[in-house]
Amino acid sequence: MNLSNPKSLNTEFFQQLYQKNPDPWQFATSEYEAKKYAATLNALPRNLYQSGFEIGGSIGILTEKLARRCQSLLSVDVSDIAQAQAIDRCQHLHNIKFELMSVPKSFPTESFDLIVLSEVGYYWSWEDLHKAQDLIVDRLQSQGHLLLVHWTADRGILSLTGDEVHNDFLRLVPDKLKRIKSVVEDKYRLELFEKI
Ligand SMILES: C[S@@+](CC[C@H](N)C(=O)[O-])C[C@H]1O[C@@H](n2cnc3c(N)ncnc32)[C@H](O)[C@@H]1O
Repeated sequence: MNLSNPKSLNTEFFQQLYQKNPDPWQFATSEYEAKKYAATLNALPRNLYQSGFEIGGSIGILTEKLARRCQSLLSVDVSDIAQAQAIDRCQHLHNIKFELMSVPKSFPTESFDLIVLSEVGYYWSWEDLHKAQDLIVDRLQSQGHLLLVHWTADRGILSLTGDEVHNDFLRLVPDKLKRIKSVVEDKYRLELFEKI
C-alpha cells in the first residue's frame, strides 16, 4: 500500500469540471471510451442482472448501456450537473433510478447482483476506498458481480492510481470475493469479481 495520505476529491471539484465542460472526459465522442465501454459490457458474464448499482454515472453514457443489461439500475453521482445530462440522455429508458449520492458517505440500503465502479475509485482517499469496499461487499448479493474499470496510465490529479485501487481490492480475495476476470490494457485495467 502507498504510504502517502491523499484526500478524496470533493463534489465541488466535479461540479466545477462540469460547469466548464459538459463532457470533460469526452465520454460521448471518444473512440477510446467507446472501445472501453464495449469491453466493459463484454466482461459481464450474465446477459441480464436483476438489480444493478452504478457508482459515479456521470453524464449517462455507460449508464444507458448498463441499463440494457439490468432489470433495474440505480445510478448515483455527486454532480447534479452531470446527472441532469444522464437523466435527459436516458429518458427513453424506464428502468433507471437516479440519485445524487456521495459514496461512501452515503450508500444504498438495498442489495444488488451487479455493482459497477468505473473510473471513480481513484478519486477516493485510502480511508474512503476502504469504507466503500466494505459497503460494496456488504450490499453485493452472494454470487453477484463487482466490475472495476480504471485508467492506469498516470496519476495526474488523481488521489490514487488505478493500479492502487485494483490491487487494494485484491486484499478481499479469496475470503470475500473471487476474481473471475482480469484484463490489462495499455491505458486501463478491468477486473471482475464474484461475491463468495
Ligand atoms: C471519470 S467519471 C466516470 C464516469 C463513468 N463511470 C464512466 O466510466 O464513464 C467520474 C464520475 O464520478 C463522480 N464521482 C466522483 N466521486 C464520487 C463519489 N464519491 N460518489 C459518487 N460519484 C462520484 C464524478 O462526479 C464523475 O461524474
